[in-house]
Amino acid sequence: MKFKTIEWKGDRVRVLDQRRLPQEVRFLDCRDASSVAQAIRTMAIRGAPAIGVAAAMGIALAAKRIRSNQPKIFQKNLERVCGEMGRTRPTAVNLFWAVNRMKKILSLVHLNGVEKTRHYLIEEALRIYKEDIETNRRIGENGRRLIRNGDGILTHCNAGALATGGFGTALGVIYAARDEGKQFQVFVDETRPMLQGCRLTAWELVQEKIPATLITDNMAGVLMRKGLVNLVMVGADRIARNGDTANKIGTYGLAVLSKSHGIPFYVAAPTSTIDLTLVSGEEIPIEERNTAEVTHFCGYPIAPKGVKAFNPAFDVTPHSLIHGIITEKGIIRKPFHKNLRKMSAISDSLPVWQAGKLRTRNSKEG
Ligand code: MRU
Repeated sequence: MKFKTIEWKGDRVRVLDQRRLPQEVRFLDCRDASSVAQAIRTMAIRGAPAIGVAAAMGIALAAKRIRSNQPKIFQKNLERVCGEMGRTRPTAVNLFWAVNRMKKILSLVHLNGVEKTRHYLIEEALRIYKEDIETNRRIGENGRRLIRNGDGILTHCNAGALATGGFGTALGVIYAARDEGKQFQVFVDETRPMLQGCRLTAWELVQEKIPATLITDNMAGVLMRKGLVNLVMVGADRIARNGDTANKIGTYGLAVLSKSHGIPFYVAAPTSTIDLTLVSGEEIPIEERNTAEVTHFCGYPIAPKGVKAFNPAFDVTPHSLIHGIITEKGIIRKPFHKNLRKMSAISDSLPVWQAGKLRTRNSKEG
């Protein structure tokens, strides 16, 4: 990739400001944890894995800035920062997964002392970032065989380099297939209201010289009916343990269309997106954003004043509509409730906080 979505600069976290793309490639230097939280909230940085990395780096930045060398004070201040990160966006579980990894290190401050804990927190944030790069690579490797020469692939939102530390999840599979020499065409949903497809995915694909065609969200059915799409590939923000998947609003509609046209629908996501504590998608918290995003277009009002609007940022695709979930550990197939668990049993990355919650829930379920 010719750009870095996020970078640890020692005294600041540098993010590529995605609100300005594609018109401007401008970087935003976040010098404290609150500016990182603000960058996540305002979507200067977005995409499930990327906001996990950003939150971890924001906490590491705070750890460097807290002057006290008293474990109790250090821990209290940093827990407040973790809380602030956790309140930025509610749907993508990668954020909580990353914050909890940082909290685990912090919880040992009484044992390790403040100086070492600072160091370990920075190391952990950088590890989360590096792991994401490697995870993306493996997702690409595992998913690329699903793409054949001549395919028409439809994608929604942005699940590429801009949404991760590496080259992406859904787009990562596409990049990996391209690297193998395969030739295909990508159709990019514009993704109203925030236009991540139009502004971000199309920008990435143009830079990578991958043949791409931008469409508005309501054109997908026509393309499918014409036989131009034979694979749908999207990312995910949270996957419940039965396989129900939250992703950008509009994903569910695409899955229904895919089913009725007999087109395989795949989700590409790291295992850190799987939330085994949730029985089904019903339990996934869905972020509702400011309705001005719907009543306005690029800042211009397009709706009559006083009209009501609805703006959920994500929807949930039922597991029955998903052919497979491409992860860094392989492609998970149905039955998801069994295979997601099986995969997590051999998972070295299943966070302790999830394992703990799962045990509690199981004992309650009897
Ligand atoms: O609101 P956003 O732009 O953060 O939503 C992003 C998505 O829905 C992505 O598809 C998802 O996070 C996967 S990114 C690899």
